[in-house]
Amino acid sequence: MGPAGLDGVTTRVEDERPASVRDRAERGMRDERQPRPNPLREGLRLERMAEPCTMVICGATGDLAERKLAPALYNCLLGGFLPPEFTVVGFARRDLGDEAFRDHLLEGINRFSRNRPAKPAIWESFARGIEYHRGDFDAPEAYVELAKRLDRIDRDRGTAGNRLFYLAVPPALYPEIVNQLEQAGLATPGDRRRSGSKRGWTRVIVEKPFGSDLESARTLNRELAEVFDERQVYRIDHYLGKETVQNLAVFRFGNGLFEPIWNRRYIDSVQITVAETVGVEGRGEFYDATGALRDIVQGHALQLMAMFAMDPPVEFHSEDLRDEKLKVLRGVKPMSPSDVATNTVRGQYVSGWVEGEKVSSYRDSPEIAPDSQTETFVALKLGIDSWRWAGVPFYLRSGKALPSRVTEIAVQFKQAPLALFARAGVPQIEPNVLAIRVQPDEGILLRFGAKVPGQGLQIRTVNMDFRYGSSFAVDSPDAYETLLLDAMVGDASLFTRDDEVERAWEILDPILNAWQAGEGGPLHFYGAGTWGPPAADELLERDRRAWRRP
Ligand SMILES: NC(=O)c1ccc[n+]([C@@H]2O[C@H](COP(=O)([O-])OP(=O)(O)OC[C@H]3O[C@@H](n4cnc5c(N)ncnc54)[C@H](OP(=O)(O)O)[C@@H]3O)[C@@H](O)[C@H]2O)c1
Repeated sequence: MGPAGLDGVTTRVEDERPASVRDRAERGMRDERQPRPNPLREGLRLERMAEPCTMVICGATGDLAERKLAPALYNCLLGGFLPPEFTVVGFARRDLGDEAFRDHLLEGINRFSRNRPAKPAIWESFARGIEYHRGDFDAPEAYVELAKRLDRIDRDRGTAGNRLFYLAVPPALYPEIVNQLEQAGLATPGDRRRSGSKRGWTRVIVEKPFGSDLESARTLNRELAEVFDERQVYRIDHYLGKETVQNLAVFRFGNGLFEPIWNRRYIDSVQITVAETVGVEGRGEFYDATGALRDIVQGHALQLMAMFAMDPPVEFHSEDLRDEKLKVLRGVKPMSPSDVATNTVRGQYVSGWVEGEKVSSYRDSPEIAPDSQTETFVALKLGIDSWRWAGVPFYLRSGKALPSRVTEIAVQFKQAPLALFARAGVPQIEPNVLAIRVQPDEGILLRFGAKVPGQGLQIRTVNMDFRYGSSFAVDSPDAYETLLLDAMVGDASLFTRDDEVERAWEILDPILNAWQAGEGGPLHFYGAGTWGPPAADELLERDRRAWRRP
């Protein structure tokens, strides 16, 4: 029933919210399995303890499980964030027993964990809750057996029917796995009531890359949505789990100082750099079909930009946060082919030297076609059509075989309105820059002009430097630790929602299409160990700006 009108007659109010918003809200209302947002837990992100649950790693014998997941789980346990009931079931094809699988995870911890080697007592208690489930992803009986195993674990270990499925597999396998999970009654908690176990939650984490263009991302979203509610799906982008990226929100919205200047009135331009020193080592086949735009810009760089540029959310809850990020992405208008030629630069490295090592040309790498057109470097100029950012260019660049490994967001502020010191013969002072370093050496650097001590007037640019490593006595958790724990407590803030992923592809598809059609400017070449092709510098020189050399 609608609210009473002024005339005392009850009036019917049409719901004018867009269909997607209504749909999401309705899904939220009937989704009783999801914990209600708890501002103390989710909002302030106080130290959290996962609920008893079983994590099923589909693809448990793969590289990701060994390098990232095993160390992350071990460190969560070490930190006291996992309850004693926590159980891991590794699901893969290889013929392993429980013991061999545990050894495999232990090796991953001993090789890759930030705390290593594993402490025997901690490991032993962890290992008691690790099992291996052998099966082929397209074999229905493997899932029937998995369901029985999970029910048994619920009974024996008190995991309360809570299940987290981690799809650590190539995305082409997602549809098969989620459909099989549904067939076996593993996708919805309701099905499990029949087997007598308690009602619990079911969540699924999916890895990047999420699609290779808009159409494939939509298809993947649709396939997931046929089985899971969007609130059960956690699309991981490990960049968002990094401490500095989370700190962006605290830095902006927790301090009174920065937010008032975080807009077109004070900010001249923003540069986002994701630079790698490595080439395509061992990933040639994957990379040649992917390229820098899909591999880095689609997820990491656009997500960094959205976190940087979003408006303050109404509350610090996952849906509010993701609504704000989506608004930023909606403000980025897709380019026409001529825009692509003007505002993008793509490059591919040829032989050179990186950090004293000789690097051969991309096209000479194994599994790369000798005439490959894949970009290993990309630079873009984007704009956000919003009240806050209209007219402020966002320059994004990412590349392989660059001189240093660094990810940073650099904000260049506008010059002081009056060159007051020019009369005293002081040349133009460099603009103030705030550089937010995401990796390595996480921290924040502010560059400003200061008077050189002495009788004359000389001004030099100096740095004010905050480093996580030296300001806090504790190690930052690895991104996967944060994100796994988030998924276990039901906090999706740092995971990408279906509409965000699709919007990112809506921005990038026209660029990919124009490049492919030969309308988006040529592929440039750059020497390994340089900061990309000269055309990338020209992109900024045209605007009387220059890239930072981090
Ligand atoms: N590796 C990383 O550091 C990293 C980083 C970021 C994102 N990712 C993403 O994470 C996902 C996994 O990557 P990965 O490098 O771990 O892959 P991977 O090393 O190729 O591992 C694939 C896993 O899937 C299993 N598998 C494949 N086909 C199967 C089937 N039909 N039935 C049962 N098991 C099957 C394999 O089991 P068997 O070996 O037993 O056959 C193996 O455990 C990918 O989406 C990737 O893009 C990886």
